[in-house]
Amino acid sequence: MAPTPQSTLAVLSASITGKENNPGEGVSVLVFFVNGKKVVDETPDPGMTLLTYLRLKLRLCGTKLGCGEGGCGACTVMVSKYDRFKQATVHLSVNACLAPVVSMHGLAVTTVEGIGNAKQRLHSVQQRLANSHGSQCGFCTPGIVMSMYTLLRNNPLPSMKEMETYFQGNLCRCTGYRPILEGFRTFTEEWAKYGKRSSMEGCGRKGGCCKEKGNAGGCDLTEEDDSQELFQTSEFVPYDASQEPLFPPELIASAKLDEQFLTFRGKNMTWYRPVSTYQLLNLKQMYPEAKIVVGNTELGVEVKFKHCEYPVYINPSLVPDLTAIKIETDGVVFGAGVTLSEIEETCFQVIKNIPEENSRIFQQIVEILQWFAGKQIRNVAAVGGNIMTGSPISDLNPIFMASKCTLRIASISEDKQVFFDENFYTGYRKNIVGPSEILVSIKVPFTKENQFFFAYKQARRRDDDIAIVNGAFSVTLKNEGTDHVISSIQMAFGGMGPTTLLAVKSSLHLQGQKFNDNIVELACDALKNELSLTPNAPGAMIRYRQSLVLSFFFKTFLAIRKQLGYDLANENSAVEVFEKEPLHSHQLFEVKNDAATVGALGKPLKHKAADHQVAGTAQYTDDMPHIEGELYAGLVLSSKAHAEILSIDTSTALAVPGVVEWVDSTDLKERNEFALAIAKDELVFANQFVHCYRMVIGVILAQDQETAQKAARLVKVEYKDLPAIITIEDAIKENSFHEVPNAGITDGDVESVFKSATNIVEGEMRTGAQEQFYLETQACIAIPKIENDEIQIWSSTQNPTLTQNTVAAVLGIPANRVSVHVKRMGGGFGGKESRSVPLAAAVAVAANKVSRPVRIMLDRDEDMLISGFRNPFYGKYKVAFDDNGKVLALDLLLYANAGWTLDLTFSIVERAMFHSDNSYKVPNLRVRGFCCKTNLTSNTAFRGFGGPQGLMIAETWIEKIAKTLDIPAEDIRERNLYEEGMTTHFNQKLINCTLKKCWEECKTLSRFSERQKEIEKINSCNRWKKRGMSMVPVKFGIAFTALHMNQAGALVNIYQDGSVLISHGGTEMGQGLHTKMIQVASQALNIDHNKIHIAETATDKVPNTSPTAASAGSDLNGMAVLEACMTIKKRLEPFISSNPSGTWEDWVKSAYFSRVSLSSTGFHATPDIGYDFKTNSGNAFNYFTYGVCCSEVEVDCLTGDHQVISTQIVMDLGESINPAIDIGQVEGAFVQGYGLFMMEQILHTPTGVLLTRGPGAYKIPSFNDIPGVFNVALLRGASNPRAVYSSKAVGEPPLFLAASVFFAVKNAIAFARAESGAPPYFELDAPATAERIRMACEDKFTSLVPQLPPSGSFTPWSIQT
Ligand SMILES: Cc1cc2nc3c(=O)[nH]c(=O)nc-3n(C[C@H](O)[C@H](O)[C@H](O)COP(=O)(O)OP(=O)(O)OC[C@H]3O[C@@H](n4cnc5c(N)ncnc54)[C@H](O)[C@@H]3O)c2cc1C
Ligand code: FES
Ligand code: FES
Repeated sequence: MAPTPQSTLAVLSASITGKENNPGEGVSVLVFFVNGKKVVDETPDPGMTLLTYLRLKLRLCGTKLGCGEGGCGACTVMVSKYDRFKQATVHLSVNACLAPVVSMHGLAVTTVEGIGNAKQRLHSVQQRLANSHGSQCGFCTPGIVMSMYTLLRNNPLPSMKEMETYFQGNLCRCTGYRPILEGFRTFTEEWAKYGKRSSMEGCGRKGGCCKEKGNAGGCDLTEEDDSQELFQTSEFVPYDASQEPLFPPELIASAKLDEQFLTFRGKNMTWYRPVSTYQLLNLKQMYPEAKIVVGNTELGVEVKFKHCEYPVYINPSLVPDLTAIKIETDGVVFGAGVTLSEIEETCFQVIKNIPEENSRIFQQIVEILQWFAGKQIRNVAAVGGNIMTGSPISDLNPIFMASKCTLRIASISEDKQVFFDENFYTGYRKNIVGPSEILVSIKVPFTKENQFFFAYKQARRRDDDIAIVNGAFSVTLKNEGTDHVISSIQMAFGGMGPTTLLAVKSSLHLQGQKFNDNIVELACDALKNELSLTPNAPGAMIRYRQSLVLSFFFKTFLAIRKQLGYDLANENSAVEVFEKEPLHSHQLFEVKNDAATVGALGKPLKHKAADHQVAGTAQYTDDMPHIEGELYAGLVLSSKAHAEILSIDTSTALAVPGVVEWVDSTDLKERNEFALAIAKDELVFANQFVHCYRMVIGVILAQDQETAQKAARLVKVEYKDLPAIITIEDAIKENSFHEVPNAGITDGDVESVFKSATNIVEGEMRTGAQEQFYLETQACIAIPKIENDEIQIWSSTQNPTLTQNTVAAVLGIPANRVSVHVKRMGGGFGGKESRSVPLAAAVAVAANKVSRPVRIMLDRDEDMLISGFRNPFYGKYKVAFDDNGKVLALDLLLYANAGWTLDLTFSIVERAMFHSDNSYKVPNLRVRGFCCKTNLTSNTAFRGFGGPQGLMIAETWIEKIAKTLDIPAEDIRERNLYEEGMTTHFNQKLINCTLKKCWEECKTLSRFSERQKEIEKINSCNRWKKRGMSMVPVKFGIAFTALHMNQAGALVNIYQDGSVLISHGGTEMGQGLHTKMIQVASQALNIDHNKIHIAETATDKVPNTSPTAASAGSDLNGMAVLEACMTIKKRLEPFISSNPSGTWEDWVKSAYFSRVSLSSTGFHATPDIGYDFKTNSGNAFNYFTYGVCCSEVEVDCLTGDHQVISTQIVMDLGESINPAIDIGQVEGAFVQGYGLFMMEQILHTPTGVLLTRGPGAYKIPSFNDIPGVFNVALLRGASNPRAVYSSKAVGEPPLFLAASVFFAVKNAIAFARAESGAPPYFELDAPATAERIRMACEDKFTSLVPQLPPSGSFTPWSIQT
């Protein structure tokens, strides 16, 4: 039945009052409030985002830019408005990076600076986050503070669930989320009810705490352990909602600002805000090219990243027809400008107030909306924007289509209603709405009797991700005798073509059919044919996407059967959704020094900068005030992976007003080439050839960022294409390798063992690239001085000395003219060890050319395009073992994709070779490593530095031995574990080897054996959900493998008032290095840590620094700080002994007046190390850090989705300098490792173009991905004579422990395969994405999906390199 057309404009509210309201005339003044202060701007730029306005115009730099696309939450602010209808203030968390500043008119914005500060009083949200160790690098912190703050403003006593919902749009790359959730848990109703334990029993271990069972389960936690806390809740500032600032009374008193027709004119665009439908339609008639803007969540991304330009924006937020929600007798009408949060709220009301059978569509909208973007996006994004954008993976459109919604579309001359069906979309992001028409509203019907409705979404990540495939099913049944027969069925899918698709043919095929078991086969057959994909279809994952369609139908079939009262028996698991309980966690550690001891060593002190980080006053590179005459550098990047540059035309770019200069390789001549490590193969700017996609060709200098970037895009480069090598396989085929000095290690006689061994297996394994995704992108400011060629560099770098040397080399000046300064980084993870240097070189050259300061902070996409990733690896192994699984020999080939320059890949491959035994004694081992030279951006360091790749391949052959012998993998691991005194394949003797101790403790704490039995039982009753469990060890070598880097310096200055200033060679990137150094000094000098300060890292204070990397920052710099402190302490001793009852200040004063130096340097060079590849002798490492981890997972076999139920980690960190920081490092590393092995997937086109360029396409773990039970225990009674105060390095080793999740998933898949009769052995590459998991769970549905043609016979949409 066709929808009834409405009579045209009669129904539209029409009013134009006063001259001001005439569209196109007049200019409005922007008025809004920021942190209680009124902002009046007569010439606002409507193209400017709120974030830019806050940071540039108001100099409120607390709000951070992490991505600019709404995907990280670093820019979260609270926007408050007065709802005149409800007479209440509404608070919304909003992404300032997408919100146009002019949309703030009449509203109040609160930023992190507006709620508390480190000088006077932190807000309780800020204080709890700081004290609970929830801020490491601090770059995500302001956004996290503001999400929590907004929640509390809306609900002073929220539930844990609500809290987690508010964090869906926030990412943190450092903490692993646990401390954030634990700190903020204290605001929740669960905390109010249950206190410390919240809703959990005992230690929170699922299945019950062992302690409560009288230690029956073998857990050895003691009361004493339990009393240790990482933070004291007694110190928390109580939250008092009544003390919050009032909403500006001026905005309540007068509705003027809320009722104005607005016109804002900018350089390139005009913004209108009409107040009636008539005005809106009139404007659309006048400006058919105009964009209707509500949330700007689509438009903002199009403008920023696709560089679209739209001259006219019309914001309908005051137009009643577009903002109204009307509940009618047969459904609900949502105005097109209604936000998703408002829709969700309405759905809840509908569900509550009408019978269940009528609200089924609304139930599914709620279900899907919880996985739609993050809270910040849902608060502003409108339903009309979703429909009109017409994304083929829109989450709401399948629901709207399957439910036969109607749309109301109007222009100044027509008002009509249409069905939202297969005719609405006419092509990719195209629909039937004409240029002068707008979408007014959508009507969502109530379900009728016997109508069932289900919707599904499968994404890479559950929280805040776009769908791979989504689907909605509306099935109406009628009774025919004892049978249920389909009277009508609509099935709509996203992700299966260029638009949302209604499977019309399949529906026709199924209509009238009996709804019994046979229907599944019929439906699968029909859907498979109707929704086929070509092998090269955009989005790839071809077979997976097709199988998801079938899985979704099967789930719907079972869900309906269940609603009809059938017992689904073990198939019930197909319809159960993952239930995630609020986080449970426990941390076990020892504090050696008690609270009364002056020295701070061993105490869980909070990060020294935490208070400033939570208050938004911690300064990062781009927060530095602008300097007189400063310019911004816009990068010109190549559009080819490998080509000859034929010409560069900068004329159009240089003609843009505000552009000052063009800088390229001709400004450098022979100094364009430089070395980052052993090979002099880096170029500041491309010269004649480009060697990778997005190689830096030159920079445009302009007065501001927008002008520089815009002009850079106008530089025209002509190329002649050359053949490109992209993948490891290509490189092997073409014999394309970088030359490296050390290509292998051989220990024992591998060949003769293989000749005699009875058990030999071979296999291969691939690990993918991983983006560092530090929240602060690469940034640098170069400030040339007038005199003597001096230049100061402020850089977000882990490597000040390499930056200094490189800048000196490319400028042709001595290193003593270059000073490099690092205040802090918003995360580094290895990504700023070497790849920050070419950027600093380019900026320095530019600054030098124009003799003016030059600044750059990369956009997220630029950063991902030019800064390189963790190297992808390919490993090929052959392993011999005896019948008990004892390894006899290993022959291994390791290939790393290095990219076009060598960078650090040779060292990364070396570390992979050193770690190719993981924790297992391999008596005969031969490993050879290759650095593949490809036309990709140079890959580089990332936490673990090749270790995780080598270790992962080791675990793969362990698993293969286990499968071959049919012995549990944990038994094989246990049988091969290293023991005290054994030597590795690189001939290093293991001293103080605590591997077995960690293994046993982990086994006990995780109740491994009992859980395994329980898992078997659970799996036997559940066909479509399988559990799995795995326990893996790690042995990680600590030291730089480049010998000369194992050195550090420090400078300790004591001033006359007794205050101490430390400088050392390490940089602070969130890992708490400065805090630990202060603790070391506090212990050495025996003074309160508050007397000690670290201001920055600078090459003019401590020279010749090694990069802060290899987990060795605390070890090296700690020893240097210790030495400097001990020198001074010794000088003070006479004054102490002559005045034993004096104070520190007295002794310092006396020393000063006695003309004793209160300043000392310290220096440390790690003794007894230095490995020689030629002789396979000498210690490669100072010592080893050990750990073991057990994880349990559940896998949805039909979709490949999974969740981590629990993780227990045991780490030997010696005597921890700071257990809070160390546990934070363990958790953060684990979650990064989880991303590496399970989620994060870098994709390129076959021609080398990077596809995954921001948080929209590249998913790092979010709050929802961490284990439900997340326990960390630091091994007790472990000491380490080889590092400062018996501590151990922590940064990298725990990352690999996330492999326990990978192998637990593999274990779960094996259960599924056993049930479907698939062969038991299967290969699984990392990351084990939902796609790989699903396709490995072979079953009747996957077998229905056609195989792809042989590789090479078609060009896939994406590849892994
Ligand atoms: C971080 C992030 C996560 C996201 N996650 C998801 C997700 O999980 N699922 C999903 O489906 N989408 C997602 N999106 C996409 C986007 O948020 C939605 O499509 C949203 O509903 C768009 O609404 P908006 O108000 O912001 O649109 P805007 O950006 O304001 O407008 C979008 C387009 O619609 C047009 N338009 C808007 N209203 C009308 C109207 N009434 N008449 C005619 N044209 C109109 C505009 O002219 C414009 O072309 C995400 C986006 C971001 C940035
Ligand atoms: S910067 Fe706004 S969400 Fe990332
Ligand atoms: S502390 Fe969250 S990103 Fe660094």
